[in-house]
Amino acid sequence: MTLVPETAGTTTGASLTSTLPGSRYTDPAVFRQEQRYIFESMWCCAVRAADLPRPGAFRTVQIGRESVLIVRNRRGGFGAYLNVCRHRGARLCTDESGEVRRNLQCPYHAWTYDLDGRLVAAPNLQRMPDVDRSERGLLPVRLREWLGYVWVCLADEPPSFEETVTGTVAERLGGTEAIERYGMAGLDLGRRITYDVRANWKLIVENFMECYHCATIHPELTDVLPEFAEGYAAQYYVGHGAEFAAEAEGFTVDGSGGFARIAGIEESQDRRYYAITVRPQVFLNLVPDHVIVHRMFPLAADRTVVECDWLYAPEVVASGADLSRSVELFHRVNAQDFAACERTQPAMDSRAYRAGGVLVPSEHHIGDFHRWVTRSLPGSPGTPGPQAH
Ligand code: FES
Ligand code: FE
Repeated sequence: MTLVPETAGTTTGASLTSTLPGSRYTDPAVFRQEQRYIFESMWCCAVRAADLPRPGAFRTVQIGRESVLIVRNRRGGFGAYLNVCRHRGARLCTDESGEVRRNLQCPYHAWTYDLDGRLVAAPNLQRMPDVDRSERGLLPVRLREWLGYVWVCLADEPPSFEETVTGTVAERLGGTEAIERYGMAGLDLGRRITYDVRANWKLIVENFMECYHCATIHPELTDVLPEFAEGYAAQYYVGHGAEFAAEAEGFTVDGSGGFARIAGIEESQDRRYYAITVRPQVFLNLVPDHVIVHRMFPLAADRTVVECDWLYAPEVVASGADLSRSVELFHRVNAQDFAACERTQPAMDSRAYRAGGVLVPSEHHIGDFHRWVTRSLPGSPGTPGPQAH
């Protein structure tokens, strides 16, 4: 074991800052508050629009404490509903994804809803004059489409998407074009890997936001992005674009060549890696020939499902090209990061971590994240007051 002296990380003169106390990563009551005041109050990225190609195609996702059902309707758009039957509350769609031919039927007593959430049939409905069909449709959830994904918000009065999603991205990037020029809605899914991570969602965000760990745990990534070995590249926002190593031909696990640049990517963005987090649950990684999208779905204080998509130009996917070296680089990064988070999680309950840990200078921006999380929960002074529901 290496004992790190208390002065570690102070050589630049910056003061040390504490992380959140350990209990904030384990306490189910804290987690419930985060579900309610963060994940059920903000816009969350739910599903990839192209995953639901035809009317009747659906997907369910866990947002905060709710299962949300997103379904392609007959007009080519989407509906999002609480995945709860209005009869006796059974979960309507028990599968994570699927396709219905016409309607959505509850597996309990067969109440039937159309793709717009209207109650259209129920056994013996004509003998139930007290049941007002128009009152018993599925409860709708607000949705928006952006970057080829369906975003949902469970709040009764959702915050402005422009202010809280695109606006915050634009603030950091000087506009949303830097992301939009990758044309993500027109890209195809090359690979999806779902990680079931036994760690609190905040550990995953914090890990993603710092690169202090890169030299230790990401040998393949630092080979391609040497700047990351310095530990200063904050993945929270690599807006300047981290340059590929001179010897790396592409963003691949062995530095071998990748694919042609996505149309719209400028010369100045070639051989560069950009990354940004979109609060509360999305990480975007952009390289010239593909885009990697992480969506986090926190399920418990110590469990988070992360769905990671690798998106490529349609012609690359259609060609049947071997994507494995391209996918493998960030898959390894993910596995390395999530293993680190899982190694950290059990210690959150330790007496040694009761007062939290240390943010060294290259991690100080994580303090902003902690302040944001704390401010989002009730009881914090100066909080505009989270929406009650
Ligand atoms: Fe759904 Fe009864 S609970 S039909
Ligand atoms: Fe990492």
